[in-house]
Amino acid sequence: MSKNFYITTPIYYPSGKPHMGHAYSSIIADIFARFKRIEGFNVLFLTGTDEHGQKIQKEAKRNNKEPKVFCDELSENFRSLTKILNLSNDDFIRTTEKRHYKSVNEIWKRLVQSGDIYLDKYCGWYSISDEAFYDQDEVEDKNGVKVSKSSGSNVEWVEEESYFFKLSAWSKKLLDHYEKNTDFILPRSRKKEVIKFVERGLRDLSISRTSFSWGIPVPNDNKHIIYVWLDALTNYISALNFPDTSNKKFRDYWPADVHIIGKDILRFHAIYWPAFLLAAKLPLPKRVFGHGWILSDEKKMSKSLGNILDPIEIIEKYGIDQLRYYLIKEVSLGNDGSISMSNLKNCINNDLANNYGNLCQRVFSFIKKNCNNKIPKRKNLIKSDLNLLDNLKRNLPKLIKLINEQSLNEYIKMVVNFSFEANKYFNDSEPWNLKKNNPERMNSIIFTISEQIKNISILLNPIIPLSTNKVLETMNISSRDLLIKNISNQDIFDHDIELKEIDILFKKIEDDN
Ligand code: MSP
Repeated sequence: MSKNFYITTPIYYPSGKPHMGHAYSSIIADIFARFKRIEGFNVLFLTGTDEHGQKIQKEAKRNNKEPKVFCDELSENFRSLTKILNLSNDDFIRTTEKRHYKSVNEIWKRLVQSGDIYLDKYCGWYSISDEAFYDQDEVEDKNGVKVSKSSGSNVEWVEEESYFFKLSAWSKKLLDHYEKNTDFILPRSRKKEVIKFVERGLRDLSISRTSFSWGIPVPNDNKHIIYVWLDALTNYISALNFPDTSNKKFRDYWPADVHIIGKDILRFHAIYWPAFLLAAKLPLPKRVFGHGWILSDEKKMSKSLGNILDPIEIIEKYGIDQLRYYLIKEVSLGNDGSISMSNLKNCINNDLANNYGNLCQRVFSFIKKNCNNKIPKRKNLIKSDLNLLDNLKRNLPKLIKLINEQSLNEYIKMVVNFSFEANKYFNDSEPWNLKKNNPERMNSIIFTISEQIKNISILLNPIIPLSTNKVLETMNISSRDLLIKNISNQDIFDHDIELKEIDILFKKIEDDN
């Protein structure tokens, strides 16, 4: 089995400020990337910005800037967001980079060679905000304005010469692919929507525009600009040095293991992208996972409703691990989910401060007071100790399976449950009553609970990397040992070294905060 793993986020339009939706796609992808790394895979995790098209050109103009200058400034916001969110991305691609131009040019040439491109005239609806073409039946009238039924954004009538991609010719191949590769589109509910759409019959897709100039010109016909989605989707292979398909990066990482995207851009990733790749004679990604939308107090976040939750403000106030944990715990990954400040506070207090944080802190201060600040050796474990440890180890294959299916919510529930169990074990075992009369038993309990804190910290590490790293460092576990396989190891502690100092892991949030 290949030990390489390639995961991507959507590349973001840099025209506005990064918001919770962007943070959500990126955090999800980061969690999987981190997990696969500690599972022992060579991971490539890609994110970046999508900088061409009419929407960006319009925004640049509104700001009185040249599009490239505008993008240089705004793309930086997204690059710094990767740091703020503590993403472990290996690369950050911009569609204005040379490596990307090369790759898009080659894709275009391949589509021409395969006979999938022809010149015609496009007459139909276009949404600049979605950078998407819509059929008549996908558009409705709202207070005299034409809008897209699915996204609600304004559409305008476009009539211009355009190159077309023979998408209609690929319907059957796509349907076969969905059938043979049952997990190509996840979650399953989303897959059904896509199949229905393709079964209705696909129309050829307009893949160039002439009414603006900000983009990659069509090779040999410079008045046409390549449609921004054909341009953007290609980023996933530009980062692997395509068109050089024999280079190591491309050989190691293509096809991608999973594209993490939001449900609103599923059609582009599950229909257009595989059709382009089939026509270009390139392998298809193994999976496209479409997550749901984050709602604020049950409503879509919007400026006019004033319910936008700014990820950066929340991080500054409560911390990045807190936001990462909350988004993953509270929102069911495939569905839309509501978030609110009051839920965020409850989640931080109950799960992080009172449960995992409290467990670590109580155990560490007990060790300091009663065990010379060193973790005792594994010795004379009894049934209740072994039960606690074995239960987690027995469930390890299941946890790995959950991650491989992108079932993050179930994964986190199981891990939090181990933490509740560990707290209960510590309370029930009452090591504080054993110091005088049975120090050996006390030591066995402290070894067991320390071992379990290490295991839980490894499992939580992809979700809350900063805090779990602190815990593991306190226990003198080196970053080299932060591996899933060390959960089944017997005893990797150094018993001769004292625990390091640790400050409070998660501050409890009071009501007026
Ligand atoms: N540039 C395209 C993607 C090209 S990928 C080849 C794009 N960019 S975007 O900036 O508009 O959105 C990027 C991601 O943010 C999408 O996955 C989208 O679903 C996600 N979100 C935007 N708002 C969201 C929420 N409120 N909730 C969750 N995610 C949503 O589309």
